[in-house]
Amino acid sequence: MCGIVGYVGSQPALDVVIEGLSRLEYRGYDSAGTAISADGKLTVTKRAGKLANLREALAGTVPPGGEEAGSAGRTDAGGSGERTETGVSGIGHTRWATHGPPNDRNAHPHTDCTGAVAVVHNGIIENFAALRLELERRGHELSSDTDTEAVAHLLEEEVAKGASLADAMRRVCLRLEGAFTLVAVYSGEPDLVVGARRNSPLVVGVGAGENFLASDVAAFIAHTRDAIELGQDQVVELRPSGVTVTGFDGRPAEVKEYHVDWDVSAAEKGGHDYFMLKEIAEQPRAVAETLLGRIGTDGRLSLDEMRLTDDELRDIDKIIIVACGTAYHAGLIAKYAIEHWTQLPCEVELASEFRYRDPILTRSTLVIAISQSGETMDTLMAVRHAREQRASVLGICNVNGSTIPRECDGVLYTHAGPEIAVASTKAFLTQLVAVYLIALYLAQVRGTKWGDEVFAMIQLLGTMPQKVEQVLETVEPVRELARSLAGERCVLFLGRHVGFPVALEGALKLKELAYMHAEGFAAGELKHGPIALIEQNLPVVVIVPSRARPILHDKIVSNIQEIRARGARTIVIAEDGDDAVVPYADTLIRVPAVPTLLQPLVATVPLQVFACELATARGHDVDQPRNLAKSVTVE
Ligand code: F6R
Repeated sequence: MCGIVGYVGSQPALDVVIEGLSRLEYRGYDSAGTAISADGKLTVTKRAGKLANLREALAGTVPPGGEEAGSAGRTDAGGSGERTETGVSGIGHTRWATHGPPNDRNAHPHTDCTGAVAVVHNGIIENFAALRLELERRGHELSSDTDTEAVAHLLEEEVAKGASLADAMRRVCLRLEGAFTLVAVYSGEPDLVVGARRNSPLVVGVGAGENFLASDVAAFIAHTRDAIELGQDQVVELRPSGVTVTGFDGRPAEVKEYHVDWDVSAAEKGGHDYFMLKEIAEQPRAVAETLLGRIGTDGRLSLDEMRLTDDELRDIDKIIIVACGTAYHAGLIAKYAIEHWTQLPCEVELASEFRYRDPILTRSTLVIAISQSGETMDTLMAVRHAREQRASVLGICNVNGSTIPRECDGVLYTHAGPEIAVASTKAFLTQLVAVYLIALYLAQVRGTKWGDEVFAMIQLLGTMPQKVEQVLETVEPVRELARSLAGERCVLFLGRHVGFPVALEGALKLKELAYMHAEGFAAGELKHGPIALIEQNLPVVVIVPSRARPILHDKIVSNIQEIRARGARTIVIAEDGDDAVVPYADTLIRVPAVPTLLQPLVATVPLQVFACELATARGHDVDQPRNLAKSVTVE
């Protein structure tokens, strides 16, 4: 949520910052801005809307009307943005609005009254109202509605007292409450960028004679793959010659360097119109990568990397899964797999609800936190709450070095590669692989009455990349169907057993991308209310369980008949060879036959394609749906 970039070095800073922002736009796209330090002054340019508006402003193609702000710098927050200098240091921001509507004035960077300090921010400064009042009493005039602007003024006060920008940042951070990443430049120290981090992501990219700061390595991956993880409550000083990290108290901090194992091509569209299409297409590889090295030649799983010992896993007597959105749906599916293969009780909870009730946790409880980004604030807070209650916490994350895995006792990384499109696709499939791996590993370690099934399932899991590939090869009719439904107002999704969370996920994708009413229901619940929604020609997607579970399969075939009898247009997703559904399906979508518990890996893919195509047909940008941002770093 909000993308931040900082650069210092010999390349034109503006170009590097804009390039970085273009790779972070998925984090927020309400407005964007830059501040470039050169010749003893800062040039700030910012625009409401997507990055394209800022680029236009910087190219000077918008009508003039800019405004000078202070002798030390120039703020152009609405009119001409003629490009005057490029500078050696610069910062940039792409915003997902929290405080104040997304207009030019509220766009970042924010400056103090003199224009000497510019700052960008991700997070929420909870005590900003008190700080603002205090500043106003001291004669500061604040011009935006944001919580961030107060920080620029506080920094300027410290600098005016003679502090360096880094010291000013350390002092100011001690006064801030809430979650924040801050990055600032000061006209008096042109070859310096200072960043600070508490609870929001910030990584350093280490180059030769140049250094980078960003919310995500994608911003600088074209320049360097060497990165440093910043810890909690740390301040980083970035100069062309090097990087210094301290705590807010000024003491030198230990940092962890790492090498990013993917390159710039992974963060580009690779010939697809949208990142989402590319990421859907990448799913067979993402699934394969997540399995890689985890199934031994003896057919047993090896997950030593999880950092939890087998003894610890044997001591567990309950599992609670916490996650949000699509990751929560992966958790719902995990419950079926874990309870079946391990006979351990498993609860699944929305992370945003978890710490506001009184969950019963003991040292024998394993809490599993699922998060693609590893930065979702609700999930992070649930992790902290669980650890405070002394439960063991295992993270399932896609982003190496992100906050959640750092704070968990153990972690199993998914290897989906960078997911840029806001709607999660390949990360979801790899989260499913991860939860199957954990469920099967627990069964392997603890012993289970389903020993043979567990062994067979591990082998079958290894074949899933090909099954997902098969689905992708046959989805063209799904695209045609989606285009034909572009004018509909509502689509319902029904499923039983693991098909129920798949139905929820299909509905979520459609809501967020196509902005249409979509609901997922457990098919068994239909007669308890939702059947009243069925009307003539209403499209209803039904996920049919494998025939290997006749008790489920036959019931859903009855449900299809019930809704069809009431006029619904039935879109049926069923495995190859399932002829029982043919008479009741207005449209039949085939997926490969796989065991029921693994079916979400194949049944979800047509629903992703369906939502993506339908939204595109309605003219929406599927990579950047309205009001959303990729990682939700505020509660
Ligand atoms: C929906 C989607 C979101 C995320 C949710 C959690 O397509 O992407 O619902 O799944 O915001 O995000 P992570 O997994 O990063 O914690």
